[in-house]
Amino acid sequence: MKVFSKLDDFLDFGWAQISRGKADKKSPARHPTFVTSSAVGFPNARTLVMRRLDRKNYQIEFHTDTASSKMTVLEENPRAVIHIWLPKVQLQIQMCVDVEVKVGDITIPNWRNIPTNSRVAYGTIPSPGTVIESPLAYNYVPNQKRFAVLICHIQSIQLLLLGSKHICANYKKTTNWQGEWLSP
Ligand SMILES: Cc1cc2nc3c(=O)[nH]c(=O)nc-3n(C[C@H](O)[C@H](O)[C@H](O)COP(=O)(O)O)c2cc1C
Repeated sequence: MKVFSKLDDFLDFGWAQISRGKADKKSPARHPTFVTSSAVGFPNARTLVMRRLDRKNYQIEFHTDTASSKMTVLEENPRAVIHIWLPKVQLQIQMCVDVEVKVGDITIPNWRNIPTNSRVAYGTIPSPGTVIESPLAYNYVPNQKRFAVLICHIQSIQLLLLGSKHICANYKKTTNWQGEWLSP
């Protein structure tokens, strides 16, 4: 088991694991759970593919369909939690993020970079979540106008490393990421 005595080293380790979401298609970090909540009802959690990572600016990017229900919730409360569990290294990562939603012409450069066969994820008719008569009673109609880029601005990162003695730390943007140890 890795032992960390310095907060910075632990954060570096956390970032190295988050980065695997972009570098390694097989890493569970590629498919974080994205959790939103509105003022009423249950929180919603779903899997998304990590599309871009920018450690320097503490940003993670996802792509989605403008007609998906997460968009409605984000309009009401543009905040989310990103959750990743990495079983190989026994690390849980929880990040609180402010979500910047980009739609329309500004997303055209991103859209151009998406392989044609992957564009089917944006534009399903009827909209995602609509009740349908049978399992395949929908059509893929790729549509740039239904494409949204979610830029997540990380506000805090909490790391929990399991071992014979667990280690937990929280890092916040408001304290310039200096971090503090937490009882696990
Ligand atoms: C492995 C996996 C990857 C997924 N990637 C995405 C994604 O990148 N973007 C997306 O909008 N939905 C993705 N989904 C589907 C979402 O989990 C979710 O079902 C869909 O976005 C509708 O969510 P909502 O109704 O909560 O908005 C993925 C699902 C799985 C199982």
